[in-house]
Amino acid sequence: LFGIKKKVSGLNFKPIKPSDKDDLVLPRGYKYDVVASYGDVINKAGDTFGYNNDFTMFFPINNSNQRGLLWVNHEYTSDLWVTGPKTNGKYSAAQIQKLLYNQGGSIIEIYQDDEGVWKMDTNSRYARRITGLTPFRLTGPARGAKAVGNVDIVQGTFANCSGGKTLWNTVLSAEENYESTSAAASLNQTHYGWIVEVDPFDSNFAPRKHTALGRFHHENSAMGLTNDGRIAVYMGDDKTDACVYKFISKNKYVKSRKQANSELLEEGTLYAANMAKGTWVALTIEAVRAAAKDNKELLAKFQTQADVLVNAHDAAVLLGATPTDRPEDVEISPFDKSVFIAHTNNAKHGNMHGHITRFLEDNDDLGSLTFDFEIFACGGRQSGFSAPDNLTFDSDANLWTVTDISSSSVNKGIFSTFKNNGVFVIPTSGDAMGEAYQFASAPVEAELTGPCFTDDETTLFLAVQHPGEETEDKNNPTSMWPHRKGDNQPRPSVVAITGFKY
Ligand code: FEO
Ligand code: CA
Ligand code: CA
Ligand code: CA
Repeated sequence: LFGIKKKVSGLNFKPIKPSDKDDLVLPRGYKYDVVASYGDVINKAGDTFGYNNDFTMFFPINNSNQRGLLWVNHEYTSDLWVTGPKTNGKYSAAQIQKLLYNQGGSIIEIYQDDEGVWKMDTNSRYARRITGLTPFRLTGPARGAKAVGNVDIVQGTFANCSGGKTLWNTVLSAEENYESTSAAASLNQTHYGWIVEVDPFDSNFAPRKHTALGRFHHENSAMGLTNDGRIAVYMGDDKTDACVYKFISKNKYVKSRKQANSELLEEGTLYAANMAKGTWVALTIEAVRAAAKDNKELLAKFQTQADVLVNAHDAAVLLGATPTDRPEDVEISPFDKSVFIAHTNNAKHGNMHGHITRFLEDNDDLGSLTFDFEIFACGGRQSGFSAPDNLTFDSDANLWTVTDISSSSVNKGIFSTFKNNGVFVIPTSGDAMGEAYQFASAPVEAELTGPCFTDDETTLFLAVQHPGEETEDKNNPTSMWPHRKGDNQPRPSVVAITGFKY
């Protein structure tokens, strides 16, 4: 089917060719339903779906593969399509409210009807918004610390990029490029750039920011168990020359404690990867002060563990962690516990198309402090993909990889060969290991984000982010996806893809 001898397990599709069509193009036999678009009402209170949907995570209701809650991140807004333009370089108070409301997350209830079509249930008792205006509790060493302005409650979450699910069925959402929103809204930057936790089923579970996991340009979180039963959380820091992180809890996971396991994210050790030595370096105040030695400026900057966490990148580099090519999503293989990291690109290093790195923890133990690594797959014309970003696994050990060539570069110059962004399926074992097969192509100037399967893998959720992002004139949009009848603008939307015949 794919020109390879052995059938690749799970790949029951004929790969598509790169496309520049203004649609979500799928292999024959597959279809998509638009489940929610920017501006859609999500509940009886009249809350609306935010802008630029990113990470999605399905939470089954009663173990169903046909009904559940979908957590959706909303990463950032658009002057053209959301707030309207600034006046004299500034947003008005009303525009700032809109800017903050349309970021954060949505909890929506969705179901597959008798005809197999996925829809949103706006009568849901769970559906609600978490926004840049929602109060958040700080937890961990930086809570109430001088480094965050001595506060323990902060306003809102935004710049929510990717995330992950905890072992206790809550969502972790990653605050990534927080500077522009916090600056626009005159909010205190040290209050953002954290991993936040929300329980989609329980509005009484206080939304919280876990400072023990460090403050940086958080892309995601991938949680697993160490061999001795503690929690390990792997995290990317999406900046050029930034490090890969791992948090290990002090205490062990106890399944019967359910959501109370959230406390595990309040106490533990944050590590950053030194790839030259193959070691995880503990970011402790003692180590940082020893490394800072006689440097008065650094000694003044790093006085407490809270200072280390708030300035995690600087601490990591000071302690010898390796700067890498924009570490985006991280996933732990459920098959061999190797850890996959999408290094999206780094023009400063001439790495134009990025690569996927695979960490092999010693003894296959996520609690190990030593590891080996390999470059698992490279972007470029030969593999057919560029700018790997979000990752997820299917049960046949295929790594589903979405791409994020920036809107200003996509389908131009050295990126023209790839046409629009896409979804690629890459086997992580067997004869076809490391080869990429294209499963989907995005609408014009869109990025496909947040791939998430239902447990039975009959549905794949996907967020189509920023279609038509380079539009300059509202009357002449570069994309009109999802091509709603009577609509006059493109709309970021979450889709449900069906047709999988496993
Ligand atoms: Fe928001 Fe790193 O992508
Ligand atoms: Ca991303
Ligand atoms: Ca990206
Ligand atoms: Ca992006």
